[in-house]
Amino acid sequence: MDDLTGKIDKTRLPRHIAIIMDGNGRWAKEKGHDRLYGHYQGVESVRNIVESAAEIGVEYLTLYAFSTENWDRPEYEVVGLMELLVDTIRKEVPVLNKNNIRMHVIGNIEMLPQRAQQSLQEALDETSVNNGLNLVLALSYSSRWELVNAVKNIAQDVKDGKMDPSTITQDTLQQYLTTSEFPDPELMIRTSGEYRISNFLLYQLAYAELYFTNTRWPDFRKENLYEAILDYQGRERRFGKISEQIQQEAEIH
Ligand code: IPE
Ligand code: IPE
Ligand code: MG
Repeated sequence: MDDLTGKIDKTRLPRHIAIIMDGNGRWAKEKGHDRLYGHYQGVESVRNIVESAAEIGVEYLTLYAFSTENWDRPEYEVVGLMELLVDTIRKEVPVLNKNNIRMHVIGNIEMLPQRAQQSLQEALDETSVNNGLNLVLALSYSSRWELVNAVKNIAQDVKDGKMDPSTITQDTLQQYLTTSEFPDPELMIRTSGEYRISNFLLYQLAYAELYFTNTRWPDFRKENLYEAILDYQGRERRFGKISEQIQQEAEIH
């Protein structure tokens, strides 16, 4: 593992990594356990990955923890996940503070049970002065929900005379997203062998490098994260240009 850390170019780290933490249920079932057991084990991976991202110097880590569509799962699983959320956040705040990690939340938080909203708010307040890793939890989040909200708010501001439609740019739209404070992710990782975005950061991932691994989330650890970063560093990001232009730009810098 030390080898992997040594191979990573610290000057070319993705500033922002986004992860779809998938495969908890299948991981548990394969071991003859209940799906919830997979979610509990998944928390261990969250701990490990948050710590590993902070250690190597990633600035933003967004974790997709619960989607708008996940509300449609069996009630017992939703309730179990909400309890796990409250417990985990309560327990982890001191660890976040010790590691100078600031927590943020994106998503339709009003949908969450009161207790969860409360512990989230406490965690946001108690970590607000930290200036190390920014940990962004996507909870009750979906990109289409976010985009619809943005459109509603823009329309309202136009109606109220605060904005002229002809002045709307990509930056304006960006400012109305829940991620307005964060740069776009350069790297998006999805675990457990599914090759889809599942309503996650559709606008923000426009030019992200996508990395898919068969590893189930409860098995995903530091070395898997660093492997993904190494893979990312081996790619050429062209943003629509041609390779020679990118190489020339690299020489100038
Ligand atoms: C990801 O694991 C966690 C959440 C979506 C809350 P899953 O629960 O989706 O696990 P699989 O995909 O069914 O194995
Ligand atoms: C995406 O995983 C949401 C989270 C990881 C929180 P799902 O397991 O809900 O996605 P689908 O249903 O397989 O697309
Ligand atoms: Mg899944």
